[in-house]
Amino acid sequence: MPSAPESRYVAEAPSNIAFIKYWGKRSEESQWPANASLSMTLERCRTRTCARRNPAGDDVVSLNGSPLPRTDPRAVRIQKHLDFLRRTGGFSGALAIETENTFPEGCGIASSASGFAALTLAAVANWSGSRTLDDLAERGFDRTRLAHWSRMGSGSSCRSLWGGYVAWHPGESPEEQLVEPFPAEWALSDVIVVVSAEEKPVSSREAHRAAWTSPLFRPRLAGISEKWEKLSQALRTRELGELGPLLEQEALEMHGVIMSASPATRYLPPRTIEVLEWLRRQRALGRLEAYFTLDAGPNVHAICRRDAAVYVRDAIARAFPETRQMIDETGTGPRLKADLADTDPKGL
Ligand code: DP6
Repeated sequence: MPSAPESRYVAEAPSNIAFIKYWGKRSEESQWPANASLSMTLERCRTRTCARRNPAGDDVVSLNGSPLPRTDPRAVRIQKHLDFLRRTGGFSGALAIETENTFPEGCGIASSASGFAALTLAAVANWSGSRTLDDLAERGFDRTRLAHWSRMGSGSSCRSLWGGYVAWHPGESPEEQLVEPFPAEWALSDVIVVVSAEEKPVSSREAHRAAWTSPLFRPRLAGISEKWEKLSQALRTRELGELGPLLEQEALEMHGVIMSASPATRYLPPRTIEVLEWLRRQRALGRLEAYFTLDAGPNVHAICRRDAAVYVRDAIARAFPETRQMIDETGTGPRLKADLADTDPKGL
């Protein structure tokens, strides 16, 4: 593959927030999800990853400007994914990976989603000598293929390969999984309320494993197609009053599974619950129209119309002054260096 050893390949991939959650797996080895999931790609919460050849012979990783020790669990996971990509794509060559996020890690904003999408794009761009997403596709690495490679590093990352809305269907076997853009044209805002930026005590990978032990899990799976129908209809018809209650129910259902599994995990501290209740109260009083969703973490995503985002953010900031808020919105998808606009990803 043509690639100058000293070349830098920079990929920027967005995070995504699931409206129907990927929770639980039928097989961890093949990263085969228990249910279909649907997410909105974000615009500003991104990971930017640079891949250079490392003639010294080993993969090395630096995160937010600091080199990671080889034994650091994050470095080990990245290394494992690079090995998988080399094996699967027939690539060779060690890489020096520099990666940075525009948001705090491990705090419920899916850093593994944007992280593994950016890593997959940057690494394959380097090994294949591709400067743009079109170059990648021409060389046989289209987004669908890369999405399937990316999910092997972290499942939710496969939905970060496109902008807008993205669906991930499990199919009847691991090989029949389908990741594809979901046809909805609706720019919404996500007011992210960072209740805590601390690393979460139990990784989502561990909590995924426990899902099957929750008595709520099988009933949840049985209800997914009905939920899918209702939610996708609300997205297509752009009815926030229909979409919102489904978002809230889905987020609480996932946390219900997490809290009732064994071992049980609770990602929601009392302060998060206060934000959720406050949001519902404000809505009932007719003061704002925003609906919450959550990832496997303590931070709240308040989904609202774009013209309401600043108002919602300011109201939350006044009610919860100790939290940090970020306004994000439906995003445009990943970029490679040559595709990158001259924007500062830290400008949240
Ligand atoms: C709660 O993608 O982090 O964000 O495949 O084990 O890396 P692994 O799991 P991960 O799961 C995150 C699930 C979620 C919901 C979602 O994004 O759908």
